[in-house]
Amino acid sequence: AGTPEAKNLPPNVPEWSQALGDGVVSRPYGRPSKFEADVVRRDVEWLTASRQSSVSFTPLHQLEGIITPNGLGFERHHGGIAEIDPAEHRLMIHGLVEKPLMLTLEDVKRFPRVNRIAFLECAANSGMEWKGAQLNGCQFTHGMIHCVMYTGVPLKRLLEEAGLKANAKWLLPEGADASAMTRSVPIEKALDDAIVAYAMNGEALYPEHGYPMRLVLPGWQGNMWVKWLRRIKVGDEPWHTREETSKYTALLPDGQARRFTWAMDAKSVITNPSPQAPMHHKGFTVLSGLAWSGRGAIKGVDISLDGGRNWRAARLDGPILDKALTRFYYEFDWNGDPLLLQSRAIDQTGYVQPTKAALRQHRGLNSIYHNNGIQTWHVLPNGEIENVEVA
Ligand code: MTE
Repeated sequence: AGTPEAKNLPPNVPEWSQALGDGVVSRPYGRPSKFEADVVRRDVEWLTASRQSSVSFTPLHQLEGIITPNGLGFERHHGGIAEIDPAEHRLMIHGLVEKPLMLTLEDVKRFPRVNRIAFLECAANSGMEWKGAQLNGCQFTHGMIHCVMYTGVPLKRLLEEAGLKANAKWLLPEGADASAMTRSVPIEKALDDAIVAYAMNGEALYPEHGYPMRLVLPGWQGNMWVKWLRRIKVGDEPWHTREETSKYTALLPDGQARRFTWAMDAKSVITNPSPQAPMHHKGFTVLSGLAWSGRGAIKGVDISLDGGRNWRAARLDGPILDKALTRFYYEFDWNGDPLLLQSRAIDQTGYVQPTKAALRQHRGLNSIYHNNGIQTWHVLPNGEIENVEVA
């Protein structure tokens, strides 16, 4: 924010009122104020060996509402960002179909469209917290999520065009990036709410999110939302690709592995206050955060100020949509005492977000994926905040 210049404060006339400003189209593509320059994606350098197979995190503590701006959504690439000329890109649909298709972006845009707001959460979101509190900030503990409005064609419509054979049971979408990301998707999901999207928040997808087209699987783990989508093969059984055998599976205490864990369970996080957004004032305080569920809409969010002993209902505000981020608020008076802040989401199926201890009891300690345990922020008397766990 910088130190305020007295010459620009009342009763003086500020500099910017004394001359004309820049004219229209001086910024043909608008950008945030230069005073918001710290609102950016961030990465954690030691997490990955390279920048190309890595992750950046959404600055959740600096955002409002439920929609992630197009320049701020986290990125997860396994082989870097593919910069694709749409003129040289095709979507091929083949395998167990009557009529294989080879579609240009223009072809895809000739099908009836849908608009859908959906969150995308990486199955590894909060994965670094599985063994204990580690990263200081909700950007890092929970920032592998974004929520935008997608525009595209229902995958069902494209599959109808190709004509599914009777034994068509699974799909294998493949990306055109260096990782050639592939995942097995059951046909039921494809025929339910899957979309081949080419726009996000009203404009073309950004390259980092899969331009010119990506798969959208509302409520399901982000890994399956293949970016730079170039091919969908239709088959009769799953392919058991690397991403569903060695990765995106979890070893349970009994030695069995959890596999094909597609839907993201209900989860929430207090974004403000949080370690990157400490408390500056005693007295009236606006606490805010986000809740989501891959199984439908959020029914309610509870807040605890004392590490889960007492719970009170948060206030949901803004659209409450199926499989989308939902914004919550809780207003209270802070007297300067230490606090242990927690939020707990409940979704429309009645599922209640578990404590981390409860989660570990079922899943053991050998995990990374699907950590939807309750997060605790420890507020110190000076307003600083730490990532902690309570027993
Ligand atoms: N698709 C391709 N082609 N290549 C990739 O590396 N990463 C996957 C998925 N789709 C990936 C991909 C993973 S692990 C996630 S979590 C999401 O894309 C991330 O989407 P985003 O970068 O738009 O946030």
